[in-house]
Amino acid sequence: MILAGGLATRLRPLTLVTNKHLLPVYNKPMIYYPLEAVAKAGIKEVLVSSSPIHAGDFTNLLGAGEEFGLKIYYAVQKNPKGGIADAIALAEEFAQNEKLLVVLGDNIFNFNLKDAVNKFEKTEKGAMVFGVKMPTESKQYGVIELDSDGRVLSIEEKPDNPKSNIAQTGIYMYDSRVFDFVKNLTPSAREELEVTDLNNFYLKEGTMQCEIIDWWIDAGTSHDELLHANNMVYDKIRKGEL
Ligand code: DAU
Repeated sequence: MILAGGLATRLRPLTLVTNKHLLPVYNKPMIYYPLEAVAKAGIKEVLVSSSPIHAGDFTNLLGAGEEFGLKIYYAVQKNPKGGIADAIALAEEFAQNEKLLVVLGDNIFNFNLKDAVNKFEKTEKGAMVFGVKMPTESKQYGVIELDSDGRVLSIEEKPDNPKSNIAQTGIYMYDSRVFDFVKNLTPSAREELEVTDLNNFYLKEGTMQCEIIDWWIDAGTSHDELLHANNMVYDKIRKGEL
């Protein structure tokens, strides 16, 4: 599943009349990057969720998905700011009791998810998050704390005192119980059903795994990060790394 809802208020005025995930990142619309990443991982069917007002733009752009070697389905998130976990709930029927890979539509990375997907498919139950080491501790993301064996100790959403410099990326894998866990969530202070609260169900159960990836950009957090994403992609393409 790829999430392309939200209001993207942090990118205004760029997002006043269009959806953030349609904005250009160098030579492609932003959502192409996560779509290509899931296709590369061997995924064949993807649900794209977006807001009522922009849903038609995604069908116009992506169609049935052949260009990506995917079959694309669409879902509309009634409250475009209901939260990431609220959007994940839309995939219940789509997932058909199978495991689910979720990628946020503004996340750009070139880590090949294939091995992790294969590993997770063999896992009996649980979830997997993907972390990235940031140059400094960061308060603008979810923060993952690991022990020396790579076991997840805590995941906190935008904490005032980050316990590590590992940011929680927008890549998640869940077993089919995720939809039951979502139903038990309550809205956070920012009135959203938080993915971090969802992840904490698995963490408490002791079934949360974490993989560390090399580079990653959340292109949607600010104008600076969007510019950074454009420059980074340009640079990686020049070097043949993307
Ligand atoms: O990108 C990584 C970060 O994403 C994580 O480190 C955080 O733990 C996680 O909560 C999330 O934080 P953000 O505050 O950056 O999330 P944002 O509101 O920007 O939404 C992320 C993506 O999800 C974006 O592509 C839009 C989509 N979205 C968001 C909301 C709130 C939806 O599709 N529906 C929604 O209701």
